[in-house]
Amino acid sequence: MATAAAQVPATSRRMSLPAFLWARRRPLRLMAEIGRWPGEIAQVRIGSQMFALLKSPDLVQELLVGNAGRIAKGHTAERRRFFAFLGDGLLISDGEAHRRQRRLVLPAFHRSRLAGYGETMVRTTDAAVATWRDGEVRDLAADMMSLTLSVVGNTLFSSDVGGAEAVAAGFNGLVADLNRMIFPGSSLALRSPLPFARRIRRAQATLDGTVYRLIGERRAQGGDAGDLLSTLLLAEDAERPGEHLSDLEIRNQVMTLFFAGQGTTANGLSWVFWLLARHPEAQDLLHAEIRRVVGDRPAAFTDVPDLKLAGRIISEALRLYPPVWTMGREALEDIELGGNPIPKGTLVLASQWVIQRDARWFPAPLEFRPERWTDEFRGALPRFAYFPFGGGARSCIGENFAWTEMVLVLATVASRWRLSMTPESEAIQPFPRISLGQDRPVRLRLDRR
Ligand code: HEM
Repeated sequence: MATAAAQVPATSRRMSLPAFLWARRRPLRLMAEIGRWPGEIAQVRIGSQMFALLKSPDLVQELLVGNAGRIAKGHTAERRRFFAFLGDGLLISDGEAHRRQRRLVLPAFHRSRLAGYGETMVRTTDAAVATWRDGEVRDLAADMMSLTLSVVGNTLFSSDVGGAEAVAAGFNGLVADLNRMIFPGSSLALRSPLPFARRIRRAQATLDGTVYRLIGERRAQGGDAGDLLSTLLLAEDAERPGEHLSDLEIRNQVMTLFFAGQGTTANGLSWVFWLLARHPEAQDLLHAEIRRVVGDRPAAFTDVPDLKLAGRIISEALRLYPPVWTMGREALEDIELGGNPIPKGTLVLASQWVIQRDARWFPAPLEFRPERWTDEFRGALPRFAYFPFGGGARSCIGENFAWTEMVLVLATVASRWRLSMTPESEAIQPFPRISLGQDRPVRLRLDRR
């Protein structure tokens, strides 16, 4: 039972629906504004829905770790819109269904598989940057979107380049269509006989057909091709020996991994490159590190732990511009956080955007300072002061994959190219879509080193 002394201060306010609808179009400002309310929990009632924003790392831990069984991802409009497309995969499922899938998918991300994925990542990046020309200005955000899409495709289906490309292209088209469907009633419209809805359903059927064909061919071949698809096919539930993922479940995980792994990593990398173009001194130091660790050969998986500055640059970029900038959980029953009652049905928000820019944990929080990420600094941080990959039972399953990819892409690009700012990219602002991107193309100048 919580005592009054243990209770952390909270603020509770009401927000009118029009004020909320106005603020919703500027979600980062809304979140930062609510983050400035006094106390460690800001509770807001909008109509009949209660929201609670947590502002301290300890409360986030209490939510994600201490209350894991009493919260769920819930059913926001966003999740409903993508549900039909992604299926009941790891990202969407809740409860026992989620736990079973997590056990089965985890081996695909085991460290022992990463070296193989790392090779694919470097090969894919090499092929992409080979087309860049000295002195040109490119939209690095667009480049990173297509690169990370190819990386997921090639690591899932390494032995079938044509198949990987077909799935990546189909996936890309569908996500673009679904992104345009952000209006009230869109999930209903998607099921209607309207021409655009039929077109989307046809595109989905074609994509599903390709994925099922690839699964079928691989099952028939047997063996282990070393890629993600093989690990998903071979995975066996440790708690229920003999139980494997069905074709439908593998299809759902394939879509989920494309969806969860592409935009987040692409946006993370775009921010890294933009920040480096703004900070030539950090870029010089990075070039020196790459020269020392990698030299003239291609970067390799085994270099990742030695590329310490590259890691610090990425850590700092993910702090300032976290691709997943807010996470929401629905309270399935009445819970308590920091001694405060949180009624059932409340949507509890833990925002990387708010907490990772808090001066209590990060001095000069708005400055890009990769050098802050010493081992001592990291070790002294409360666990949830920095959580770009979430935490608890639903933490990002692709964290090591994403980390390896970001370091190897950064090292491959920076070993050959110097990036500099263009006037049009100076004013770039963060823009939240599914993950935190930029409000305009990230046009940077590339000069061969
Ligand atoms: C910089 C890149 C990435 C970031 C910042 C990121 C961040 C996150 C975060 C914060 C969550 C937890 C969301 C929540 O609890 O509500 C998450 C979950 C997840 N991520 Fe990532 N992610 C990244 C890359 C990837 C990659 C490359 C993959 C796969 C190839 C991936 C697959 C997943 C999956 C499947 C989940 C759901 C896990 C579960 O619920 O059990 N992510 N990610």
